[in-house]
Amino acid sequence: MSMDRRIVSPGQTDEEQGLELTLRPQSLQDYIGQVSMKQSLQVCIDAAKQRGEALDHAIFYGPPGLGKTTIAHIIAREMGAAIRSTSGLVLAHAGDLAAILTNLQAGDVLFIDEIHRLPASVEEALYPAMEDYQLDLVVGQGPQAKTIKLELPPFTLVGATTRAGALTSPLRERFGLVYRLGFYSPEELEAIVRRTARLLRVDIDEEGAREIAGRARGTPRVVNRLMKRVRDFAQIKAQGHISRQVAQDALDWIGVDRAGFDEMDRNILSTILEKFGGGPVGVESLAAAINEDRATLEEVYEPYLIQAGYLERTARGRCATRLAYEHFGKKKDLFA
Ligand SMILES: Nc1ncnc2c1ncn2[C@@H]1O[C@H](COP(=O)(O)OP(=O)(O)O)[C@@H](O)[C@H]1O
Ligand SMILES: [Mg+2]
Repeated sequence: MSMDRRIVSPGQTDEEQGLELTLRPQSLQDYIGQVSMKQSLQVCIDAAKQRGEALDHAIFYGPPGLGKTTIAHIIAREMGAAIRSTSGLVLAHAGDLAAILTNLQAGDVLFIDEIHRLPASVEEALYPAMEDYQLDLVVGQGPQAKTIKLELPPFTLVGATTRAGALTSPLRERFGLVYRLGFYSPEELEAIVRRTARLLRVDIDEEGAREIAGRARGTPRVVNRLMKRVRDFAQIKAQGHISRQVAQDALDWIGVDRAGFDEMDRNILSTILEKFGGGPVGVESLAAAINEDRATLEEVYEPYLIQAGYLERTARGRCATRLAYEHFGKKKDLFA
């Protein structure tokens, strides 16, 4: 069995999807953190329900694993509605969108993940659907082609994207509710560790929980991944109990260091330090040097490195910060 040394990755395995289904909070109450978003959503949901209307269209921005898909499902549940899920990568033709939209019931939620990846033709078909619950369908071809208007049931579009900047403004403007998800605080992550431990029936003490939370890159999905691996370690090496020492040993063993960095994070930082003299280095050159595509570098890895203060985005390129030098036991001026 080979072990994936990456803790943060763009994709998910099937096993992990199963895990996420078990661990996914089902209600706003159960959803930890993102307090102002939850408060705002609660008011909007209550108001829409009172009026018997569909909730306004909503879009959620933020790095992977922060709870965008989870909140989409919670919205449907709180509205007492069904949810249809698709993604901007799958919806290739306006006809695919039409097939989904015409099958919705009043009040249903249509969740489009990676909505910034929608082809322009599909996006344009979405505008009247969002605005007036109408769909313009083109039937036939060439001179015989006709446009017919279809009435749609009122529905809620929930979009998610990792790229705040990648949405076209006509699409962005059609969302009544716009939320940006930030990284979770250490206390919130600890609460998520405890919640996951409870659901997985894992025995963990307070310091063990703090240790895992501290290495989880501000990200609930990472908490769950770490918990699962630490649990295995504890089961075999520590009679199933997770103390701080057990958590530290397990995390060191799987290659997650004190800052929560995995191999790829360390690779990014050490490449900037060693190959590019600490930066600045352009994002394309950096992506090529670490053999990763630019979008993954920018959307999956950089946000946390930047927020945690290890990396800076400047006009001239990416720079390692003093913290990054220190992380590798180096002094900044030696490289300057
Ligand atoms: N606010 C939260 N509270 C508790 N667990 C959460 C929260 N947000 C996310 N999670 C956990 O993290 C996992 C990944 O979240 P997900 O919604 O799939 O992230 P995204 O869609 O933003 O990539 C979920 O399955 C859930 O177990
Ligand atoms: Mg998701």
